[in-house]
Amino acid sequence: MIHIKITPDQAKIIDSEIGILAIYKDKDLNTYILDGKCTHKGCVLHWNNAERIWECPCHGSIFDYKGNVIRTPTINKLENTGNDNF
Ligand code: FES
Repeated sequence: MIHIKITPDQAKIIDSEIGILAIYKDKDLNTYILDGKCTHKGCVLHWNNAERIWECPCHGSIFDYKGNVIRTPTINKLENTGNDNF
């Protein structure tokens, strides 16, 4: 289990023992824990807090906080690694 403090409506990239994770906690305290590497070529994602999306700095793929693809070139959603309370 990972113990990380994330305040509501915030996100973090975590380099953990199980890999790089992209974690977002919404205003209702639901936590979304995704693979933090882009499904196109594996670059580490960046969080855009204004739009609440994960952006890839390499080729421009964009994912929503649930990991769904918003913009290509990737076609695969981010893997959901679990759901937990932080
Ligand atoms: S590695 Fe993310 S868009 Fe290419």
